[in-house]
Amino acid sequence: MTDFQNVKVVKHPICCHNLSIIRNKATSAEVFRNAIRRITYLLFYNATDDLELEDIEIETPLEKCTVQRLSSKKEIIIAPILRAGLIFSDIANEIMPYATVRHIGMYRDEDTLTPVWYYNKIPVEFDNPEDKIILILDPMLATGNSAIDAIKLFANKKVPQKNIRFVSLISAPEGLEKVTKAYPDVKIVTASIDNCLNDNGYIRPGLGDAGDRIFNTVEN
Ligand code: URA
Repeated sequence: MTDFQNVKVVKHPICCHNLSIIRNKATSAEVFRNAIRRITYLLFYNATDDLELEDIEIETPLEKCTVQRLSSKKEIIIAPILRAGLIFSDIANEIMPYATVRHIGMYRDEDTLTPVWYYNKIPVEFDNPEDKIILILDPMLATGNSAIDAIKLFANKKVPQKNIRFVSLISAPEGLEKVTKAYPDVKIVTASIDNCLNDNGYIRPGLGDAGDRIFNTVEN
């Protein structure tokens, strides 16, 4: 963990190496996406390292034995924030094929730096909210405003904070400060805490606009 409560920085050499690729502005969209995918596996294994297990009896070709699998009581919900969060969702789904994927559509008002909602595939209320595990996906945790809005959506439906995880590639200290203050028990997993935000709310040194680089819509 870091100076921020419940923030895990995944400092694996594979993450560092691939961060060096995606930060480089000369990297093509294809190479950018593939480098993010390699980091995504490590982020997810860390974000899910405390999932509850249950015992079951099975029979190997040799004998009966007790093994552990993910608890069947818990429903895992993957919630990518559109559009950049989509880069994480295929791999999250590959690792957890039984998970539900519920998209959240938000874009940032560039003047106020506040999130504007345009899509929400989350049910009005949850049965057994204490049995939901939520993985909110957004590659850039910058001002923290959209992270807080997305977390609030689930917290207001009575999902315990400790069941909510926020997965990002790169985070800004300003955003982490805000999110961890508002939701101290939400676990945040990231590959880097960068230096600061610039006046436009972009992370420095960062990687620019993640959505534009993923979807090859960078305007020169
Ligand atoms: N969103 C991005 O895509 N990049 C940033 O640096 C901040 C927010």
